[in-house]
Amino acid sequence: MVKVGHISSSTLQSVLIRKLRTAGTLCGCFFFVISLNFIYTRYFSKVPLSNWATNNDELKELFDADITLNYGARTDVTTISSWKAPIMWEGMFDPNVYDRMHIHFGSNVAVTVFAVGRYLDVYLLNFLNSAERYFMVGLPVKYYVFTDTPEKVPKVALGHKRSMKVLKVDRYDRWQDISMMRMQTISEIIESEIRYSFRYVYCFDVDQVFKGRFGSEALGDSVAMIHSQFYRYPKYRYTFDKNPQSKAFMKVGDLYYHAAVFGGSWENVKNLTDTCYENIMVDKIRNVEALWHDESHLNRFFFDNKPTKLLSPEYCWNEIFPDQDIRVPRLVWAPKYYDTLRT
Ligand code: UDP
Ligand code: GAL
Ligand code: MN
Repeated sequence: MVKVGHISSSTLQSVLIRKLRTAGTLCGCFFFVISLNFIYTRYFSKVPLSNWATNNDELKELFDADITLNYGARTDVTTISSWKAPIMWEGMFDPNVYDRMHIHFGSNVAVTVFAVGRYLDVYLLNFLNSAERYFMVGLPVKYYVFTDTPEKVPKVALGHKRSMKVLKVDRYDRWQDISMMRMQTISEIIESEIRYSFRYVYCFDVDQVFKGRFGSEALGDSVAMIHSQFYRYPKYRYTFDKNPQSKAFMKVGDLYYHAAVFGGSWENVKNLTDTCYENIMVDKIRNVEALWHDESHLNRFFFDNKPTKLLSPEYCWNEIFPDQDIRVPRLVWAPKYYDTLRT
């Protein structure tokens, strides 16, 4: 028998085997706990989705479909802003590249839409039905419908992974307040619910109808809609708020945005709605109201915080305008009946 010092080699062997077993058990336990923790945080805890997205940031850059945009595809219109944000026009992008990327990364979208008072009867059904045909087809979408009369919300056939939640809101006496206070309600629903389940939030007026693809190419971190009435006009024609007493006041501006469509990551939309709501409340204390209500505040926000993607007027078009630039009307204004619908 070989002896090492005072210990026989067989004793040494069995000591070693025991130590290895203990180490193995410890390793096993360690990995078991790590896996449990991973499964818990991934599937059961309310961790905001962005925490997961940041793990993917490097990959996301590699796959960012915006790098495939062809800015020269359209020479008749402006395809990039002065701060280098793309302006999305038909012809510049390959829809399949965007769809593939967003399906790969599991993108999903929460939509907010308000149908208060008579706006529900006239617009909501067409808005929802047309969204099911054209809006983010292939991606999970949840509509958050805010109304004062939940019992009147029509039944709509929803596609795979598409759902709807109806929430009751107060009906403000003035239509201006119905419009402006959306900022507060959107911020609250992002905080209480959307942030835990959705990456993107897109906010829409209800008085519009989808007529063409409004797809994943429209997704971005911070997305603003260029107003169809002003996209061709020189700067001085833009209808910014001109009252220095208002928090929406703008001495100069670049583009004029339409508040009927805005969106982005939940973090950015939360920041936008919080800022606009705070500024609207400051205006109320000062007893002033911005020229175009929430839209003026939204314009001020996007002037101070440049959007990362701009939607061309294809994405919110007024069909009564001459349309030589619009190859695909994607979302169009529904007729307005202010006299009978507004309070
Ligand atoms: N809205 C509503 N009920 C009203 C007034 C406004 O539900 O009585 C909502 C609705 O979603 C509407 C949006 O607020 O689309 C903005 O108002 P509106 O469309 O009248 O403003 P405009 O686009 O004409 O500036
Ligand atoms: C109008 C539109 C309003 C507001 C305004 C801005 O065409 O109906 O909602 O956006 O432009 O000047
Ligand atoms: Mn509208």
